[in-house]
Amino acid sequence: MANGPLTKTQLAAYAQDGYVLARGFFSSEEISLLKRAAKEDKALDDHAFSRGDGEGGRVRLSLWNHPGDSIYGMFARCRSMVESAEGILADEVYHYHSKMIMKDARTGGAWAWHQDYGYWYQNGVLAPLLTSAFIAVDPATKENGCLQVIPGSHALGRIDHVLTGDQAGADRERVDAILTRLPLVHVEMAPGDVVFFHANMLHRSDRNESENPRWSMICCYNAARNDPYKDAHHPRYTPLAKVDDSAILAAGEKRFADSASDVAWLDINRDASATKLRRDPVQ
Ligand code: SIN
Ligand code: MN
Repeated sequence: MANGPLTKTQLAAYAQDGYVLARGFFSSEEISLLKRAAKEDKALDDHAFSRGDGEGGRVRLSLWNHPGDSIYGMFARCRSMVESAEGILADEVYHYHSKMIMKDARTGGAWAWHQDYGYWYQNGVLAPLLTSAFIAVDPATKENGCLQVIPGSHALGRIDHVLTGDQAGADRERVDAILTRLPLVHVEMAPGDVVFFHANMLHRSDRNESENPRWSMICCYNAARNDPYKDAHHPRYTPLAKVDDSAILAAGEKRFADSASDVAWLDINRDASATKLRRDPVQ
């Protein structure tokens, strides 16, 4: 069973570094269930969209705003995850969105250096009081393009973002200057590990030129007190109903097709509220 929420020591590490890697957060049984559900889920594949990475590759992902009752929702709503986000943000939190990053073998594109708040700022979110929980579905290694972070960069404030290919990236001159003062860490992960990271944490990842896929699910939470002041393509405050961690394995008893069927995908080609997403960065 999931072994969160984050401890006081882990929360202190997050406050210091802007991220914390929680190894074995989900059990192998739980993460296998998510992996199988995702890889067999035709709807996830059908609702995927992709963007050029400015380096000749393409990133591919599916995104949804409300967690729902599917296996994906059980991961996003389980106590271990939600109470970790509550501990980080010292508040009630709500689900801002989740996404599956499908970094496929040989073709999965690179992500440019960015802060998530660099995008979310545009959505009427006044403070960087959000956190992302990046769940490794497949192993993530240097070879298949694991997440890279700059510890301490969350304390530098919001950095201007400019378009690189179809992605908005943080101002390169500033990132290069930051890299002369702060380290770069490759976050290699096993399936079931979770890295929680601050909305202003600078992160990127390389293209996947290996034979191994690197799929990850990222659940993003906003503090209830940070309700955006205007409507955008991600929701304003919406109460989040937590479930016990045991709900993950219980969801596996349903047929996968059923369990994934209630997801309200954010469809960038059909959903009018996602017009901005079609034009702008993918987050
Ligand atoms: C990654 O999957 O490497 C990064 C994705 C993101 O920043 O959302
Ligand atoms: Mn990001």
